[in-house]
Amino acid sequence: QKGGFPHFMLKEIYEQPEVINRAIHSLSSDTLPRFLCDAKSITVVACGSSYHAGLIFRYLAESSCGIPVRVELGSEFKYCSVPLTDVIIGISQSGETADTLSAIHKGNCNNVQTVAVTNVLNSSITRYSDVTILMQAGPEISVAATKSFTAQLGVLLQVVNLLSGRISDETLSHAGVAIEKVLLLNMEDAVTLCARAQHIFYVGRGPFYPVMMEGALKMKEISYIHAESYAAGEIKHGPFSLLSSETPVVAICLPGPSYAVMLGNLKEMKARGTPIVAIGYGDDTELSELADIVIPLDEEQLYLQIVGATVILQMLSYYTASRLGREIDKPRNLAKSVTVE
Ligand code: F6R
Repeated sequence: QKGGFPHFMLKEIYEQPEVINRAIHSLSSDTLPRFLCDAKSITVVACGSSYHAGLIFRYLAESSCGIPVRVELGSEFKYCSVPLTDVIIGISQSGETADTLSAIHKGNCNNVQTVAVTNVLNSSITRYSDVTILMQAGPEISVAATKSFTAQLGVLLQVVNLLSGRISDETLSHAGVAIEKVLLLNMEDAVTLCARAQHIFYVGRGPFYPVMMEGALKMKEISYIHAESYAAGEIKHGPFSLLSSETPVVAICLPGPSYAVMLGNLKEMKARGTPIVAIGYGDDTELSELADIVIPLDEEQLYLQIVGATVILQMLSYYTASRLGREIDKPRNLAKSVTVE
């Protein structure tokens, strides 16, 4: 059943090149809901990893399509009185998360058009929503979401592509190859650093901030190491006091609009003695002088960088948890689907 892999999680990580291609192709201009094309504003509701996919979507949809996107935790949306948008997109791998369902229900009661992005045909979310987009990741057995998260990214990238026409089909078709390259990376040194830590900070900017939120969630979920994510610029507004040689920082520092300021943030952290694991260009000499370990990600396109960094962080969590002998597929206290509020 595990196809020769020691855990379902690793098997599911390795399925991702195919999964992302299938997810991207699950949607075309003919099947994109009309009301989504006409939307002037969108709310995304979701929980956990699915919420992080929603945050990445917000960044991409706002910057490529100019559509304001609000992203709300399912558990908060029901109880907050905020102005409703034209469309609600509910993202849920299982399609059974109670908080996400009640958030969609709130939209239904207020005549908002609703779209479900889910992995499970005929799940509850499909009955609550006007339209369903199936992400087609295949069954996910490991409690920690990996391939379903990547499939959500695939679907949502395609939505942005179809709404904006600004992501080339060629870029999207490289997503699977970008993941294949990441799967070949050696994570040993970074794992050694993380496995002996009690606290790890994950920092990024722009769309890489929610990528880091997802990376930190994955790390704490399966390794039981306390991992916190921050927008890199926020570190000096408080968390700085926690930095020491005992608290590694995992950072994404790729060429782009925030590269210089990110490098500056890392210098400040390094001055506190913090060990740094950086995801960046393999030939970036400035970064390699600063960081203790550079995990190379040599993609130029933002979308491929997002997908590649996501998978690197999954692998970092998986191999760290494996080094610590954790019960990876069924972490303590967690269930695959959360059907109570
Ligand atoms: C984390 C994880 C959870 C789920 C969350 C929402 O690895 O799996 O955070 O993402 O419980 O679940 P779905 O997507 O089924 O609504």
